Amino acid sequence: MSIKEQLDTNNIPEHVAIIMDGNGRWAKQQGHARLFGHATGVESVRESLKAATEVKVKYLTLYAFSTENWNRPKEEVDGLMDLLVTTIANEIESLNENEVRLNAIGNLDELPEKCRAELKRAIEKTANNKGTCLILALNYSSKHEIKSAIKKIAESYKSGEIELDDISDDLVSSHLYTAGIPDPELMIRTSGEVRISNFLLWQLAYSELHFTPIFWPDFKKEDFYKAIYEYQNRERRFGLVSEQINDTE
Ligand code: IPE
Ligand code: IPE
Ligand code: MG
Repeated sequence: MSIKEQLDTNNIPEHVAIIMDGNGRWAKQQGHARLFGHATGVESVRESLKAATEVKVKYLTLYAFSTENWNRPKEEVDGLMDLLVTTIANEIESLNENEVRLNAIGNLDELPEKCRAELKRAIEKTANNKGTCLILALNYSSKHEIKSAIKKIAESYKSGEIELDDISDDLVSSHLYTAGIPDPELMIRTSGEVRISNFLLWQLAYSELHFTPIFWPDFKKEDFYKAIYEYQNRERRFGLVSEQINDTE
């Protein structure tokens, strides 16, 4: 039986987030330039999206570019931005065929004009789709996101719009880029690195974390299902003890 067939369809995470890492090392291993790894990584995006759609994951967030990534060599940054533009343009049709709605989080205003325009176009063209929502984290920094939320909340407090006691988890969440989107139940990172790298720090508070040594360009549908399978075999306790979780009375 395939891993997909072994999944409990009643316990599919609503939201899966992925740190797509290892493109550069994968390319180097094959004797290619880093950009070849990024370009090949696009196929893994398709695979994961297909897998997510097939098992009805509602939200798939992919970490595609961090604010720290601007400090990479110019050639790589330019190549990544070009890849983003061409990929989004090429995929719109397929997103629509598969009822995928595109969304993006991050400081999008600072992306190159061409990227912003293409992203906006794709988001608009897929806005009415009812299937999986694909969220690209672009020019994303979780610390920046949290700082912006703090500033907005501080302004509301200063203007008397809210009181100190109004500052709840929900209020903070509603000021993040991910407002209205449930926190990921599962976060996957490829490439063997075991860190969060400024990704969804607030939203991952109680996520199950899945780290795999596979480099992103080698990550396939089966690997996505495997991560969900492992997720389904974990006990999420949220601070309780096991007996409380299993007590169905
Ligand atoms: C992830 O792969 C893609 C981006 C960060 C844009 P990397 O480019 O970080 O690949 P490694 O980690 O250097 O192998
Ligand atoms: C995280 O990967 C960012 C993305 C996948 C877009 P990095 O490769 O930039 O992270 P570090 O530098 O290894 O922490
Ligand atoms: Mg990396």
